[in-house]
Amino acid sequence: MMPDHLVIAIDGPAASGKGTLARRLAGHFGLNHLDTGLTYRAVAKALIDARLPLDDEAEAEKAARAVDLTSLDREVLSAHGVGEAASKVAVMTPVRGALVEKQREFAAQPPGAVLDGRDIGTVVFPDADVKLYVTASAAVRAERRWREILDGGGEADYAEILADVERRDARDMNRAISPLKPAADAHLLDTSEMDIETAFLTARSLIEKALAARSKV
Ligand code: C5P
Repeated sequence: MMPDHLVIAIDGPAASGKGTLARRLAGHFGLNHLDTGLTYRAVAKALIDARLPLDDEAEAEKAARAVDLTSLDREVLSAHGVGEAASKVAVMTPVRGALVEKQREFAAQPPGAVLDGRDIGTVVFPDADVKLYVTASAAVRAERRWREILDGGGEADYAEILADVERRDARDMNRAISPLKPAADAHLLDTSEMDIETAFLTARSLIEKALAARSKV
């Protein structure tokens, strides 16, 4: 049975497929969706556009407070370089504080939400109804990113993308505050050998089972 208000937390590294999964799951369960990576990207983009250094904590906090969740432009924010810059501003405590507050307000709106990011199940919603940790090998994730760029008509070097993916993983997993890691009660989903449809069906069934188990308690 579906609870009245539902929060589903989806975490995982860059290009694990968690964003696509989160969008589809939100559609399936009739929930709102927030890609929290876009909020960190919006802060980085604001600093880049204002030609400010990415380690200026006061300006980064100001930019974080000004982020408007209703006007996050995925097209503009999805650039590869913005993701790299986002992982630099994401290490700052005041930036995370401001963004996490907005993410919690978003998910509090009925009927609840699917949020995807790095720290949703561990920090933003430790009491989420269901938590998934979506991963895939670095090589597979780099190849997906590489194909995405080629399919969009761009040019990309696979070795460079793999190096970027590994560098970003290291930064996200080893930072002092809210590092990327599975919550103790997260369901693990490795999509290395799965297409998106299989990943979606697997995630959907994990969520349905978790909700059914909960409603029996
Ligand atoms: O998911 P995406 O690649 O758009 O995220 C960009 C960067 O934002 C990540 O590499 C990570 O450093 C940061 N991030 C985070 N916490 C989140 C979502 C994203 O630290 N919940």
